[in-house]
Amino acid sequence: MFMRKEVDKTRIWKKLEKHCKSFRKVEMRDLFQKNPQRAEKFRLNLENMTVDYSKNRITERTMKYLLTLAKERHVAEKIEEMFTGEKINITENRAVLHIALRNRSKDPIYVDGKNVMPEIEAVLAKMRHFSEAVRLGTFKGHTGKKLTNIVNIGIGGSDLGPKMALEALKKYWAKDMNVYFISNIDGTACAEVLNKIDPETTLFIVSSKTFTTIETLTNAKTCRKWLVDALGEHAVAKHFVAVSTNKKEVEKFGIDPENMFEFWDFVGGRYSMWSAIGLSIALVVGMDNFEKMLDGAYAMDKHFRNAPLAENIPVILALLGVWYNDFFGMKTQAVIPYDQYLQYLPAYLQQLDMESNGKFVSLDNKYIKYATAPVLFGGAGTDVQHSFFQMMHQGTSVVPCDFIVPAISHNEIGNHHEILLANVLAQGEALMRGKTVKEAAAELKKAGKTPEEIKFLKKFKSFEGNRPSNTIVVKKVDPYSLGMLVAMYEHKVFVEGVIWNINSFDQMGVELGKQMALSILPELQNSASGILHDSSTNALINLIKKLRN
Ligand code: F6P
Repeated sequence: MFMRKEVDKTRIWKKLEKHCKSFRKVEMRDLFQKNPQRAEKFRLNLENMTVDYSKNRITERTMKYLLTLAKERHVAEKIEEMFTGEKINITENRAVLHIALRNRSKDPIYVDGKNVMPEIEAVLAKMRHFSEAVRLGTFKGHTGKKLTNIVNIGIGGSDLGPKMALEALKKYWAKDMNVYFISNIDGTACAEVLNKIDPETTLFIVSSKTFTTIETLTNAKTCRKWLVDALGEHAVAKHFVAVSTNKKEVEKFGIDPENMFEFWDFVGGRYSMWSAIGLSIALVVGMDNFEKMLDGAYAMDKHFRNAPLAENIPVILALLGVWYNDFFGMKTQAVIPYDQYLQYLPAYLQQLDMESNGKFVSLDNKYIKYATAPVLFGGAGTDVQHSFFQMMHQGTSVVPCDFIVPAISHNEIGNHHEILLANVLAQGEALMRGKTVKEAAAELKKAGKTPEEIKFLKKFKSFEGNRPSNTIVVKKVDPYSLGMLVAMYEHKVFVEGVIWNINSFDQMGVELGKQMALSILPELQNSASGILHDSSTNALINLIKKLRN
């Protein structure tokens, strides 16, 4: 195996560490004052998307060093490796080709000497044919009724993408259609959906890359039984389809391979909403809109592959991520979309970022000493301003933040959207600028407070500021801009992984818990598993059994 110097041992890393120390006394508000061109300098555009990254603790020198880091870690070459189907997922010996799913040029992409594009195109055509037939009512349910309730059964990457995208694109839904998601093994997830729907008008999509995931298979079996109880075994063919890479397991489950939409092992679960995993999206918003989403992602892909590193949106966002996480020790990242329809984006990005980069072994098979994936969290603004923003402004940890801002709302009611916009712009400015103790005291004085009150309150009312944020503006949240946004984050996460020298495309860290659950299950059902647990787990098993009796 080709070994390189670990990234944190390189000269450029050391240089960045030293450079970071020089920021102790640097205030962003001063940087803005000194350089009236700062906003322009640190801004990137792609079509209708603008990324303002000027409210960061950076100077031109910082960017120069960070770009040197990217160059030395061969980011450009790694991007090329991904786009050309190299097996960069080395622990699973797989290519990583979610970009092929939206390769709108249809230019060939080879894996093991085979062009994958014809198969991808064939599945897209099958999705179009099927979704149009369901939407037009030519593909009907067993009793001849139109299928208007779509239920996606899947978890993780087989759930979060379609769920997020369908919420984001609510304005594009067919008027007579409804969509539901069952992911959790908690029976409540199933029960709540089944209580709302009518078997005659329901289409279940069992979405699972592996088709072995216990949650999805258990939920699918429950839904299948519910349908068969209502309409009989023959109804399954008209009410169940599967999306998977595992034809054998799909057949074993009792779904005709004719009703299966295929995808491939070169598509990671959390990167799969562009594949047939997005079938629910195509059904509800139409295949044309689904393809517009692919077009948007493709625009970002082309930019990512071709733009120089210094002008490359995902690369710059990734370098800023590394800058804060590894040099300032800021181990969290907030994503705050100021759009109700994007409310599930943070949950989606949580899997994308933390499942991809939450790794502690490098590609060179060594334990890593530097920080990798941050803790990502978020929620829709302005709601979150009234929950965790207190901590963002005055907490002892600094949380770098991405604000996502659509200039135009789908619901321009009264002045709602202007108030929303004013809020997001204010948050970015407030986090950056802060309010000194002196400024707070002056304000208190103006408000008529006594000197004692001022003395007591001025620190509480101050804001240290200098808190970084990116502001990502799109014209409107539509299928195209959504595609751009999601692809932007996918590539950001990839570049961070390249810098950290990790494999962003496996997820072995989820296995241990799954394994242990399988050993605890028989014990809850009163048969011994033969596995010895610790005293806490044993006591909890016994307590729960007692409570259930
Ligand atoms: O448990 C993690 C995971 O493997 C994710 O990576 C994946 O998105 C999810 O489970 C669902 O897997 P599948 O699509 O194979 O059911």
